Amino acid sequence: MGRGAPPLPLLLLLLLLLLLRPAPGAGAERPPHLVFVLADDLGWNDVGFHGSSIRTPHLDALAAGGVLLDNYYTQPLCTPSRSQLLSGRYQIHTGLQHEIIWPCQPSCLPLEEKLLPQLLKDAGYATHMVGKWHLGMYRKECLPTRRGFDTYFGYLLGSEDYYSHERCTPIHALNVTRCALDFRDGEEVATGYKNMYSTNVFTERATALIADHPPQKPLFLYLALQAVHEPLQVPEEYLKPYDFIHDKKRQHYAGMVSLMDEAVGNVTAALRSHGLWNNTVLIFSTDNGGQTLAGGNNWPLRGRKWSLWEGGVRGVGFVASPLLKRKGVKSRELLHISDWLPTLARLAGAHTGGTKPLDGFDVWDTISEGRPSPRIELLHNIDPYFVDYSPCPGNSAIPAQAKPSLPASPAFNTSIHAAIRHGSWKLLTGYPGCGYWIPPPSLHGATEVPSPDPPNKTLWLFNIEWDPEERHDLSQEYPHIVAKLLERLGFYQKHSVPVFFPAEDPRCDPKATGAWGPWL
Ligand SMILES: *[C@@H]1O[C@H](CO)[C@@H](O)[C@H](O)[C@H]1NC(C)=O
Ligand SMILES: *[C@@H]1O[C@H](CO)[C@@H](O)[C@H](O)[C@H]1NC(C)=O
Ligand SMILES: *[C@@H]1O[C@H](CO)[C@@H](O)[C@H](O)[C@H]1NC(C)=O
Repeated sequence: MGRGAPPLPLLLLLLLLLLLRPAPGAGAERPPHLVFVLADDLGWNDVGFHGSSIRTPHLDALAAGGVLLDNYYTQPLCTPSRSQLLSGRYQIHTGLQHEIIWPCQPSCLPLEEKLLPQLLKDAGYATHMVGKWHLGMYRKECLPTRRGFDTYFGYLLGSEDYYSHERCTPIHALNVTRCALDFRDGEEVATGYKNMYSTNVFTERATALIADHPPQKPLFLYLALQAVHEPLQVPEEYLKPYDFIHDKKRQHYAGMVSLMDEAVGNVTAALRSHGLWNNTVLIFSTDNGGQTLAGGNNWPLRGRKWSLWEGGVRGVGFVASPLLKRKGVKSRELLHISDWLPTLARLAGAHTGGTKPLDGFDVWDTISEGRPSPRIELLHNIDPYFVDYSPCPGNSAIPAQAKPSLPASPAFNTSIHAAIRHGSWKLLTGYPGCGYWIPPPSLHGATEVPSPDPPNKTLWLFNIEWDPEERHDLSQEYPHIVAKLLERLGFYQKHSVPVFFPAEDPRCDPKATGAWGPWL
């Protein structure tokens, strides 16, 4: 080997690197296309890559080639998660702490919030939404097309029939149950989709948008699928592969998941074939945990949708993109659905100056490079009016006169439904919702494990890293951590806006128009 000069192979390598370096201004730094696929009510144990018996080959492949989010949280139900995704802010700051926006409530994600699509539109993006809105629609100003989306195609309420696209709901003040269409193209009622299964219709729209999109313009596509929320409906052929699941609900649900998996496969195929994929960041997320009463499952996590147990809030999620610096890895860093707004805004080069103070963090370096998460703490929620409409037997809401199991804290009233995470510690207070461990019906030998807690218990502390199943309450062993987290809950409560949960407005009645939609 010669001395003094670097060896020839090294020189060749350097030359090669110089040649491969993108020329400055050659378009390599164009803002990426952002595609956000939100599944509805998809549970922790409902995807192949979490070991489910439900097959999700497309999702598995994307997750395996991207970054799997293993310590990622959503809110425990629809409107809350969607509100935080698009506003980057906790519900205690938007008034949406309690439940969801019901069809006849005159409420929507407050109009003074500047939403993610608006930020991206300001940054030069084309912004499209397909699917479920569920952020309020009583006035036209609340509609997706008025909140930053160039185009919208989907339904405005929380659930409906997958084929007729009709929603039936009682209007209590009128003492009627009203069924009407909830399907729109832009702001117009769309009547031409009867008997067409929503997952297919939405996928076709999404792929058409991709096909028509000029690759040089940055794209934001928010695909909020109806799948796999109840009602449990799916074309027959998707049931056959799941003959081995004898529980009919679970079998139907499994078919719906597989069809949704196919949908994601079609969307990514379209991104590839139209030359967008090499500059796309695709995020897949559920909006909350699975509803075990409607086919979903979160085993081995505790609880289900609507609860603050891990089964309600620990979310299925991954990021797939050629732009990731690390691929094929699992991120164990603490991430939350409110983090997407600042993260996507940063990727887009969009300004977040017009938003109200954000609760989310820019977590791109955490996802892409494996840096520690800037998020140390996560407020799951504080809802002073929490009600569980379908509590597990023997696990009903605490009666008002019940005494808290620990001395009352001056910092925070522990009878209030709330939960907070700090590092690996999680504190829950009040009645968190159904606290059973519910195995999937197909799992032989596993039976439902009821909550071991006395009905008046209102305080739990878990170390989620050691005990993700929330089996070992450590509140007696670590009183100083309990005290600290109660103080943090007290802090958040002090900075909360009042809950906004207006009474039903009977003028919502769609009888005259035949369609749910703005009535004021
Ligand atoms: C993506 O592919 C297109 C067309 O093949 C090319 O012009 C562009 O430079 C590529 N972008 C990146 C980031 O590699
Ligand atoms: C509501 O309607 C039902 C049947 O449609 C009727 O039996 C009932 O009396 C009504 N209730 C009131 C309060 O009007
Ligand atoms: C995916 O694309 C194939 C081929 O076009 C189509 O037959 C299928 O119905 C699509 N699936 C969904 C869920 O849209």
